[in-house]
This record gives sequence, C-alpha cells and structure tokens, in this order.
Amino acid sequence: MTRKILVTSALPYANGSIHLGHLVEYIQTDIWVRFLKMQGHTVHYVCADDTHGTPIMLRAEKEGLTPEALIEKVHAEHSQDFAEFLVQFDNYYSTNSEENRALSSNIYKALKANGKIATKTIEQYFDPVKQMFLPDRFIKGECPKCHAKDQYGDNCEVCGATYSPTDLIHPFSAVSGATPVRKETEHYFFKLSECADFLRDWTRSGTLQAEAANKMTEWVGEAGDNKLSDWDISRDAPYFGFEIPDAPGKYFYVWLDAPIGYMASFKNLCTKLGLDFDEYWKKDSTTELYHFIGKDILYFHALFWPATLEYSGHRTPTQVYAHGFLTVNGEKMSKSRGTFITARSYLEHVKNPEYLRYYYAAKLNGSMEDIDLNLEDFVARVNSDLVGKYINIASRTAGFIAKKFDHHMIETQHAVIDEMRAATDRIADAYAARDFARALREIMKLTDAANAYVAEAAPWLVAKEEGRLAELHRICSTALEMFRILTIYLKPVLPHIATSVETFFNVAPLQWVDAQQSLGQQTIAPYHHMVTRLDVKQIDAMVEANKAHLQTSATASPALNVAPSVVTPSPAATDYLSIEDFAKVDLRIAKIVNAQQVEGAEKLLQLTLDVGEATTRNVFAGIKSAYDPASLIGKTTVMVANLAPRKMKFGLSEGMVLAASDDRGGPFLLSPDVGALPGMRVK
Ligand code: 2FM
Ligand code: ZN
Repeated sequence: MTRKILVTSALPYANGSIHLGHLVEYIQTDIWVRFLKMQGHTVHYVCADDTHGTPIMLRAEKEGLTPEALIEKVHAEHSQDFAEFLVQFDNYYSTNSEENRALSSNIYKALKANGKIATKTIEQYFDPVKQMFLPDRFIKGECPKCHAKDQYGDNCEVCGATYSPTDLIHPFSAVSGATPVRKETEHYFFKLSECADFLRDWTRSGTLQAEAANKMTEWVGEAGDNKLSDWDISRDAPYFGFEIPDAPGKYFYVWLDAPIGYMASFKNLCTKLGLDFDEYWKKDSTTELYHFIGKDILYFHALFWPATLEYSGHRTPTQVYAHGFLTVNGEKMSKSRGTFITARSYLEHVKNPEYLRYYYAAKLNGSMEDIDLNLEDFVARVNSDLVGKYINIASRTAGFIAKKFDHHMIETQHAVIDEMRAATDRIADAYAARDFARALREIMKLTDAANAYVAEAAPWLVAKEEGRLAELHRICSTALEMFRILTIYLKPVLPHIATSVETFFNVAPLQWVDAQQSLGQQTIAPYHHMVTRLDVKQIDAMVEANKAHLQTSATASPALNVAPSVVTPSPAATDYLSIEDFAKVDLRIAKIVNAQQVEGAEKLLQLTLDVGEATTRNVFAGIKSAYDPASLIGKTTVMVANLAPRKMKFGLSEGMVLAASDDRGGPFLLSPDVGALPGMRVK
C-alpha cells in the first residue's frame, strides 16, 4: 500500500552556521526519506529556518542588518550547505513567512476559542538602557550557589546549579551591561496544565521511543499528580516575530511559531505542487506525520506541540523520533580542539559528503544515544568499506566488460545474488526502524560475500588464459550484478554514487524493487572510478583550519595584557599609517560591568566588558598596579574589539583595553566623554 507521509527535521536557527552536529539529524532524516521514496511511498520532506526571537534580533543589530536581511543571508547559506550534503528537502522555507503568520494566528485563535489561553501579569527583568525585557539567557550575574561570576540567568556553567534570573547576585544585562530592574507585564499563556490527560494518552499510544516516553511520564506526572505548568507563549516588544492578534506590542514566543513552521513549509509546498494541505493536517487524517529532533528539544515536541495541535483542531504527530548528540573523538565538539566543524569547512577540506553520510549511517541505530565521530576511525572506515570493499567489486571487473565484450553484460545467476535478494526485507526493516547501523552491517556482509566471489573467481587470471572468455564474461557480469544490487541497498545513504552507478548501467533511477529483477543483457557505459580514498591529511587540515583562529591569537597578540606605552618619537614618513590601516582597528566604547582580581596573576585584572554585543567580553588587563577592581565597575573605557582572542593561563582574553603610561606614571585607563555608550565606534 502506498503511504502518504510528511517528514520534518528540526528547524535550524537563522543565526548560526550548520555544523557536523546539526548534520546528524538532517542526514538521518534524509536517509529515511530517501528509503521510503525508493519504496514507492508518497513522501514530503519539509524544513525551514527558525527565524524569530531575541537572539536573532540582536545578532542582526550587531551586524548592522535588518533581521529580514540577516535571515535571508543565512537562508541562502543553509540551503547551500544542505544541498551539498545531499539533504534533499522537498521544501526549505522560513518561519518568517505569510503562511506561518496566518497559521500561527489561526491556531492561537482556535486555542483561545477552546478556552486554552489565559493572561497573567508577571514580573520580569527589564533592561532600562535597552528598554526591553530580557530573556533569561541575556541576564548574567553571580551564581547564587557557588558565587562564580558572569553566569547566565538560568544555570551556572561552573557548578551546574539551575535557578531563575531573579536569584542571581548582582545581575546585569548581557545586552547593555545595565543593572536590570523588575517590571510587571501581561503575558499570554497556553493552559498546558489542562492537557495532562490528553498528553498521558498520547505518550502511551506508541508515539515516542521508550526513553522519551519515560521522560514524558516524569514531566507530565501520573493522573492525580499533575506536574505541568501553563506555558508562557508571549513576549513583549521589541521582539522579532509575529504580533499576537488583538494584542498590540505582544508577540508570539519563537517556540510557538517554530513548529507551526513545519505546517507553513508544507503549506507553501502544497501551493507549489497543488497538494491538499488539510488532508495532511485535519483531525483524524490518515496520512502519517513524523518529526525528527534532537533529544534536547523533546520537551517542545512531545508536550507543547501535540497539545497545541490537539486543542486547535488538528491531527497530532504519528511519531517523534529523537536522536542523541554528536561527540568528536569521544568529546563534546570543541572550538579550541578544532572539532567544532562547520558543514562548510568539511566541504572545503574533505569534499565528499557521502563519506560523512556513510559514517553517520553506520553509527545511527534509532536510539537517543549520542554518536561519536572518531576521526581516525572515520578515515579507516570509509576507505575500507566504500573504496576497499564496495567500489572494488566494480573496479576489478567493469574494465573487462568494456574491453573484451564491447560493454555488453549477460544474464547471470549465483548463490550470492540469491542471498542478496533474500536479504531485502531484513535490510528494509532496518532502514524503516532507523537502525541504519544494522542495515549497513547486513549490506557489508553481502559486500564481503561479493568480494570473496570475485577474489576466488580471479577474473584477472581468467582473462590471461586462452579459451576462458565465456567464463570471464559470466564472472564479470555476475560481479556487476552484485554491485548493482548493493548500490540499490546503499542508495538512501549514497545517493550521488548511486546516480553515477545508474549512468554506468544505463538504467533509470534505481528503486527498492529493482533488487529483485536481474539486469540481464545490458550495454553499459565506460567505467569511471566513483570514489577516491580519503587521505588523513584532509582531516588534519580541516581540524587545523577549525582551530586556526585561536592559534593565531595565541601567538600574534603579544601586548594584549599589558597597557601600551605612549610612543613619543615622531615616525619617519614611511612609517605613517594609512587611514585604511587605522580603520582596521575596531575601537569601541566598553563599559566595565565587572572587575576582579585574578588568582595567581601579578599584573592582571579580569574585566567583563559590555561593548554593545549580545554577550559581554572577557579581557585580562595589566592594570592591577594602578586600580582597585571595585573602583572600575561601572566605568566606561575604550577597547580594541577586533584583536584576535588570546588564550592565557587564566582564560581567554577577548580584546584589549587602552591605557596610557610612561616613566612618569600609569597605567591610566582611557575614558570617553560623558554620553558615549557601550558599543560606539571610536574613530
Ligand atoms: O533548537 C533549535 O535549534 C530550534 N530552532 C528547533 C526548532 S524545531 C521546530 F519546532 F521548529
Ligand atoms: Zn555556580
């Protein structure tokens, strides 16, 4: 039976690059979708950029762009990255679309009509300088538990404590550096607390992996022990998002309209292809809906999203598939180790996306466990499996068919081919269950059997002997038929290689059922090598490139922590700086939001500077001899904002403050005239 299936991957935020961690999900989903399509089902795979919210608004401001210009730029980059990794969306859209505005608004109105919306006055931190309410992540301060400085408003990165921003000691706004004030505001809530019975049933109806269902029980609580609170779905202006109908100055929180973005992307596809949107989204729809997500956003997809759909008169997801995180060489991806690898830098250095697709597939088993990209193993595995085993079958036999038999293959039979055909359901079941690791194990076992056949038949020896031409023809045709069947099974993972193989065999795009029919007497095209070996040097270069930034900074900023001396002699004419050169130095007004001693440092103070960016900068300055840290807090000064960060014994220094000194005294910190605000350029 042909199924009608809608599949989504989580929508990446429109303020960052796609990296190898993201790709675990998109590659996983793409393989699953390609498999289902090969089986003849009607599948639509949609995604979009997640464009709303405070971080994107502030990032655009920092880059001197409108949010619309920023999200357009990022959309182009993301689309290109996905296309080059062969992630084939049927539609890649944006949550900042008219479809999404209309759907979000209608869903909200339906929830309201259903009595599921309430308003409540709450107290929130407000930045008096920036005139905005601050999300938790934009409030920093001292951890109430361990007293570590410069911690976020929701949890401490030093001791791991979680708390609310109002618990922070000496809170400050990470946007302006100002001390936030508490202010009342009216917020809109989705009454999730009333959805517990529904969510309990939904969870138990096989919609989630067992581990996820357990988490849900923890969150929802048993009947009579409701653990759910209402969900705050509004944010105050200024906010980049959709204004709530009939609530001027109030916007939908990004997480309200983000999953509706799945619907909006599909709606846009429906317009393009003439599909029936309601058939897929109406209550009791007989189509299937699957969401692939990372385990960190389970809460949104397994609680808020099904409840939103249910109480706005829509169908709920058939299943939500959560996966784990990516580690590289057994550790969290790290910028300093060069393992925080962007999609772009992989493409620049390694080039072939199918290596990564293959490696991830070999690790993914449909569970929520983390997967590890071990770079050494990666090289060994793709070279051994793809080049040494799979492609080897064709490269050792195709030439004979071309040279000796004028490109003609003959019909053949062999026990290994029968074995391959018999494995089709086992492999299909593994793909369907997202256990790609099992599918590839099965396929590689068959690949080994094919290689054993070729090795034993030794066509290169047969070719040298008189009177064995027919045998040679049979051996090579048999091997190529094996290669064709293996290609069918690998096609969801290696779609680009499969296309080359289709060209080589002169056949239409291979479908899953094609494994059951033999190719027979076919005239094939000349063979061109389809995969080359991966060189470990490519990996080394990639890792180096990803840590180059920090390395440069460690060696190229010698005077970072020392206040520069005033230079008195006039420079020779040839030593003059051009105005262009001077303009390269990004001098900015910085507000010292915190200053403290550095344990074990003779000359340094640690400064936390607000330079008008979303987050503050950490700078170590050689001014300890002249200043008491407490006297510096609240002062403004001038910093070099584009000096390469420098890794020091005490931490990362992200710039340099300017101070004057010579043998008459100092250092004296520069201070601007009154009125200069954090982030202003000095020029
Ligand atoms: O966590 C994230 O990266 C979100 N941008 C995912 C959104 S998925 C969906 F709900 F839109
Ligand atoms: Zn702490």
